[in-house]
Amino acid sequence: MINSQYLFQHYFQYSPKTVAEAHGRVNLIGEHTDYNNGFVLPTIVDLKTQVSLSLRSDYKIVGISNEFGKNTADLNSKKDGTWLDFIRGLAFYLKEEGYPISGLDVAVSSNIPVGSGLSSSAALEISLLRALCPLIGLKLEDNKMAKIGQLIEHHFVGTQCGIMDQITSSCAKFGQALYLDCENLSFEAVPIFLDHTFMIIHSGAKRKLSEGKYNERKKETELAAKYLNITSLRYGNTNMLSMIKDPIILRRARHVITENDRVKKAFQYLKNNNSKSFGELMNESHESMKKDFEISSPELNHIIKIAYSVGSLGARLTGAGFGGCTVVLAPNSKCEYILQQILNNCPNSYLVTKISRNDK
Ligand code: GLA
Repeated sequence: MINSQYLFQHYFQYSPKTVAEAHGRVNLIGEHTDYNNGFVLPTIVDLKTQVSLSLRSDYKIVGISNEFGKNTADLNSKKDGTWLDFIRGLAFYLKEEGYPISGLDVAVSSNIPVGSGLSSSAALEISLLRALCPLIGLKLEDNKMAKIGQLIEHHFVGTQCGIMDQITSSCAKFGQALYLDCENLSFEAVPIFLDHTFMIIHSGAKRKLSEGKYNERKKETELAAKYLNITSLRYGNTNMLSMIKDPIILRRARHVITENDRVKKAFQYLKNNNSKSFGELMNESHESMKKDFEISSPELNHIIKIAYSVGSLGARLTGAGFGGCTVVLAPNSKCEYILQQILNNCPNSYLVTKISRNDK
């Protein structure tokens, strides 16, 4: 990975004032539950985004990114669909906090593949906040950084995302999963399995049309809660489902309600070191995303099928879906064999990274 300081120095011909980074995340179980005030179980990965920056005084943003290239804009200009929208959002919310800025030189380097379901945008938001806050003398709690990151997504990027990615990127530690309650943002960190590995395997297909479909799922689940007369699907249970007449909305609700139950159980299994039962829940979660929530893809399904047939403990798509990555749980002793079988049978797939307890 190119170092953002190097990128900064090379492009701007002077040294940045601050450098900070934030990691991507993988969700082990609990998909599309966060914006329904439910439960998730993510952890961070070793892939990261690094940001170097210095303030300017001419109300311009000048940016260079190893992934998206160079860009310049007026700080107060309108959103334009480029990555500078993240900086516009950042400036907007810092001003709301009472800390206006007068421009920024910024270099971004990242090795989190974009559109893979590993949360490259949350890592960008959190790394920008971590780099900028000390420069302007602002102290923010991790939760507050996460909330600002989410607001940037909602109002400057256009995804009506939940809070999982930003909380994980700002709060999680290596080797631990966060059991996060997305209603009150309380979490408990629990060590991941000893002697087991979570392999993050890319399907080879980038997420497609995700924002539109993502926001559509959000609307469908909100409608489901309305039909059930509850404030969010967090408060739903499977006995209520017959109250929903629309078959699509019913399936969406069933996914969220059963997925919340799976996360609660998975958390207990992780605590009790029961990788077998944890893996079974991962498989069930994938089925639910495939059939009820309809966010999988042929490439993702193929990986899950192969993973299952060659002896993984569990496998599922991870993140928003519609392409991107899978997460596959295997005992360390079988990990290489399972990986090779998947790579041989799914021609476009590739290993992105692995997570195990001995990580950093
Ligand atoms: C994306 C969103 C998250 C979450 C997941 C699906 O990563 O940013 O808030 O909703 O999709 O679980």
